[in-house]
Amino acid sequence: MILKVVKYPEPVLSQPGEPVTEFDKELRKFVADMFETMYAEQGIGLAAPQVAVPKRITVVDLSMGKKPEDRLVLINPEIIERDGKQYEEEGCLSFPDIREKIQRAFKVSIRAQDEYGKWFEMDAEELLSRAFQHEIDHLDGVLFITRMSPLKRDLNLRKIRKMQREGTW
Ligand code: NI
Repeated sequence: MILKVVKYPEPVLSQPGEPVTEFDKELRKFVADMFETMYAEQGIGLAAPQVAVPKRITVVDLSMGKKPEDRLVLINPEIIERDGKQYEEEGCLSFPDIREKIQRAFKVSIRAQDEYGKWFEMDAEELLSRAFQHEIDHLDGVLFITRMSPLKRDLNLRKIRKMQREGTW
């Protein structure tokens, strides 16, 4: 089932997600719906608050559905190590048409649970590392505009307000 992706400034996007404690069928159905929604929107990452569910669940797939081994489910994820820097363009499904360069760690190590509750650790670099940091930010209620320079943030907020006035947001 394709879920509705909410846009900025929907309050749920700024709310820290609750940890997941029940790893049941309902959770796995929700995770499957998140993948379906992300593929329909052609994203490489989606966090539960973006579908108005304030829980610490995110899905990532850099192949956008082409490689099954790229499907990653991160539940209750934490970044345990960061290293280096990268400065690349980023987008967000909750900010259609907004793209901006954001500084992130080049490499991260994360710890997370899968949809069965099993803990795992994983290292990621470049785009995957960026996706993990962006999505884990969502679970903390942190949006990528807050990671922009004040000047770029202002510029993009003005662009959004203009689109809201024109009814295109
Ligand atoms: Ni996002």
